[in-house]
Amino acid sequence: MSLIPLILDCDPGVDDAVALALAFGARDRLYLLGITTTAGNVALAKTTRNACLIREVAGRQDVPVHAGLAKPLVRAPISADDFHGPEGLGHYPSIEPILGPASSDAINFLIQTINSAPPNTIRLAVTGPMTNIAALIQSAPETARRLQQIVLMGGARREGGNITASAEYNIYADPEAADIVFKSGCNLIIFGLDATHQVRGTRAWVDAITALGTPIAKLAAEMLAFSNALPANLMDTAEPDQLATGAPLHDPCVIAYLLAPEAFQLRPCRIDVETESQLTRGHTAVEFRETVAGAFNANWVSKADAEAVLSLLLRYLA
Ligand code: RIB
Ligand code: CA
Repeated sequence: MSLIPLILDCDPGVDDAVALALAFGARDRLYLLGITTTAGNVALAKTTRNACLIREVAGRQDVPVHAGLAKPLVRAPISADDFHGPEGLGHYPSIEPILGPASSDAINFLIQTINSAPPNTIRLAVTGPMTNIAALIQSAPETARRLQQIVLMGGARREGGNITASAEYNIYADPEAADIVFKSGCNLIIFGLDATHQVRGTRAWVDAITALGTPIAKLAAEMLAFSNALPANLMDTAEPDQLATGAPLHDPCVIAYLLAPEAFQLRPCRIDVETESQLTRGHTAVEFRETVAGAFNANWVSKADAEAVLSLLLRYLA
């Protein structure tokens, strides 16, 4: 099976860390062209350091890391360090990686890399605020449309919100960027909370991943355990009994889709984002009827097979 050429844009972040670990491990399936980082869960300097640190633990210094934009397109940065810890990786020691980022110009890396590959061959995974991607689309729209697919984590329909009652964090942090991406005409696969809340890192998952014994597996298990230990008042409260099973694995779902698309169900949709209202900033309106909201512009992930995600983690963190 030929390798999937992939760029991962992220804001590590404890669940981004598990997504990175999965992507770094799946070297028999993914040709990781590079990692780009954005401000999000924590500041850009920390998300970039964290990406380099996770790369080191995974032994994948062959994959370049390029730092991106330090703040949203127009809004002030808003962190999610309540969910990720002040350094962004839970209680993991914030040591400096030996190898740092290759550049601080992720946008240029994206443009050069995408333009130098045949059209419709590179996939882009996005697991943080979409600031870098929106900047790419604004500065080189034709380049962005050369991408085969953008698989992103963001938004919510049935599940309400997690940073406010009506918005999911990645969209809330940079709603203007999300608006640009949703209107770009790119081939979008969108993992909202509706999908990621179906994939929860139970205690059994944490124990099974820990038992793999590799450094990257232990790091990933620590990330899951940190999320599971967050105070209940912080976590999603949609279904208290769901909370008892474990914290959702938002970002790993994006990589799992690339490795096992059959584990997920998609529905064509029209997605739009609120950028004006203070109360509902970042809300995603996801409509499955073209007659109501206009032409479809994305595929919404409606179902996720949690056991399939666990199997991929056990296989690729070993
Ligand atoms: O709402 C979940 C998303 O916000 C995840 O990507 C998590 O890392 C945070 O960035
Ligand atoms: Ca993230």
